[in-house]
Amino acid sequence: MTTITIIPGDGIGPEIMDAALHVLDVLKPGFEYEFADAGVAALEKHGELLPAATLDSIRRNQVALKSPLTTPVGGGFSSINVALRKHFDLYANVRPAKSFPNTRSRFPTGVDLITVRENTEGMYIGEGQEVSTDGETAVLTSRVTHQGAERIVRYAFELARKTGRKKVTVVHKANILKSTSGLFLKTAREVAARYADIECNELIVDNTCMQLVMRPEQFDIIVTTNLFGDIISDLCAGLVGGLGLAPGANIGDDVAIFEAVHGSAPDIAGKGIANPCALLLGVGQMLDHVGKPELANRLRDAIVATLEARDSLTPDLGGNGNTMGFAKAIAARV
Ligand code: NAI
Ligand code: MG
Repeated sequence: MTTITIIPGDGIGPEIMDAALHVLDVLKPGFEYEFADAGVAALEKHGELLPAATLDSIRRNQVALKSPLTTPVGGGFSSINVALRKHFDLYANVRPAKSFPNTRSRFPTGVDLITVRENTEGMYIGEGQEVSTDGETAVLTSRVTHQGAERIVRYAFELARKTGRKKVTVVHKANILKSTSGLFLKTAREVAARYADIECNELIVDNTCMQLVMRPEQFDIIVTTNLFGDIISDLCAGLVGGLGLAPGANIGDDVAIFEAVHGSAPDIAGKGIANPCALLLGVGQMLDHVGKPELANRLRDAIVATLEARDSLTPDLGGNGNTMGFAKAIAARV
């Protein structure tokens, strides 16, 4: 019996988690659940943002399903998502984007790519963040290490082999960010040389964004540093129908946390209209991870079939359904 740590999260988090658990009840993967709090929900209940009991639960179970957690913009506390990724050294953020039918997206077919985002380094290390006393100048530290770059690029090539994909695109800005992006690119070239069976190309990040919008079908696996991966993966979500359809896995050597790419969506929280598909596709990644790919495929097929039938779609997909109704329509097809 696999025990999964469940973090219902903030904003629309509890609503989409209820929906995901409903579909899991029908899929019957034989999981047990341990509920744990993090983020604003934990602060309100326990007086701290990331309780030790939550970290213990994740460490013990090694697999967690997490809804979005709110992070204040500008000042306030720093991201609990980033803290979790750091704490468990979840260095690979794996974000697939695939065309789905009936999504009002610009690419209802042709997109099938995975962004592999370095998840622990770069601009997100949270060091050296300073604003001068006169408020005129702000700086922060970015760090890329050879070891960090090596393991994420290796992860991307191994993922290509495991999933039968043919090409890895290394996305960088080494022309301007000569130290950090330069080291990332140099390391990526070393790793690529060990994978003669996989095509590798290099692309500067700004051009990558233009290419993604014009001809996304040319991409297979993208590997890049933290900030670029954060932005590119939302862009890719936009190509295939929006954040409501974009899942992400945070993978380390011991622990893996599965989630939606999107945030807590305060603008629609409490209305029961959030699209549960992003978290459900994260459940699919989780089922693959724990060695249940047949259930993962049944879940993904059920999502596609529900979109094809336009059954109970939420407003972001042009429907007038609600979160649980959509989940039930998917559950009925698994
Ligand atoms: P967001 O992803 O929450 O929302 C962006 C837009 O997409 C909003 O209009 C929202 O309504 C819509 N949207 C997002 N998920 C949706 C869904 N499932 N169904 C339908 N529409 C959906 O991004 P935003 O507003 O920038 O961030 C809100 C909060 O979430 C912030 O505190 C941010 O720090 C946090 N956040 C947390 C993440 C995580 O826990 N992994 C990831 C991204 C943001
Ligand atoms: Mg993001």
